[in-house]
Amino acid sequence: MDILGLGYVGLDVPDPEAWLAFGRDILGLDLGRAPGAGAYLPDDSGGRGADGSAYFRMDEWSWRLAVHPATGRPGVRYIGLEVAGPRELAAALAELEAGGFPARAGNAAECGARAVTGMGFTQDPSGNAIELFYGPLVTNGYRNSRGMTFLTGDMGMGHINLFVSRYEECADFYTRMLGFRLTDYYHVGPDQTVNFFHVNARHHTVGIMKVADVDAVHHLMFETTELDMVGEALDRVMAAGCKITASLGRHSNDRIVSFYVASPSGVEIEIGWGAIKVGPDWTPRYRGPGDIWGHHGLTAENIEETGRRV
Ligand SMILES: [Fe+2]
Repeated sequence: MDILGLGYVGLDVPDPEAWLAFGRDILGLDLGRAPGAGAYLPDDSGGRGADGSAYFRMDEWSWRLAVHPATGRPGVRYIGLEVAGPRELAAALAELEAGGFPARAGNAAECGARAVTGMGFTQDPSGNAIELFYGPLVTNGYRNSRGMTFLTGDMGMGHINLFVSRYEECADFYTRMLGFRLTDYYHVGPDQTVNFFHVNARHHTVGIMKVADVDAVHHLMFETTELDMVGEALDRVMAAGCKITASLGRHSNDRIVSFYVASPSGVEIEIGWGAIKVGPDWTPRYRGPGDIWGHHGLTAENIEETGRRV
């Protein structure tokens, strides 16, 4: 299966208004075009869906991140992974079925609700809703209103790191079924493992961690094109008094310079710059713990605590 990258993510949040302000004013995302109306019509959504959802954009895609009102546990509602087109989607859904993972094609209304041309549905072994899609709606001439430029394109929108209680099954699903390749991994305890997988030049598109008996999302990462944009985002975070869950630092594996901030729904957001790229000749590395510098607060205990909370 040939996944191109992380296309979009939908989150369940208790308070979309708080998230809207956080995403727009702190992270520096723009409100996107809410899916649902005809793609041929002008956008008068203001980034809001009829149900109160908020849609953010970070590049020419009409939206990349959605936050949906939810009364239950906050977390990830769906993870959108891009494939090239209808043949690739049909083949992927058939492969999933043959591999023992129930999958089905989406109908026109479901595609309209994501502003994509075609899509299908399955689940990873931890119960995360995985959506495979092609043909996202794009619009020309996007410029970020806060001077942020996000590194997307053929590397997707960023990465997502998940807590999974069934690591082996999830690793099998993402590698054998979806075609992800292991980039590197480390252990934080005898039974606790953190693993990074790529499908394109981004060091990891999906990270899966078994650090506790929980299934949840730990963080989403967005990468900027300039270091100053990370610093400017950090200034906004500090001015607003948001909780910084990991100080500015540089990871030893992807070498990204980044910080982590807690979003209003608990999911952490990593804003970073300068990650390495990996190629098809990459050999997986077994890494020792620790960062090159910084990232204070990103301890196994704090990560586990976040997993139990979000
Ligand atoms: Fe990350």
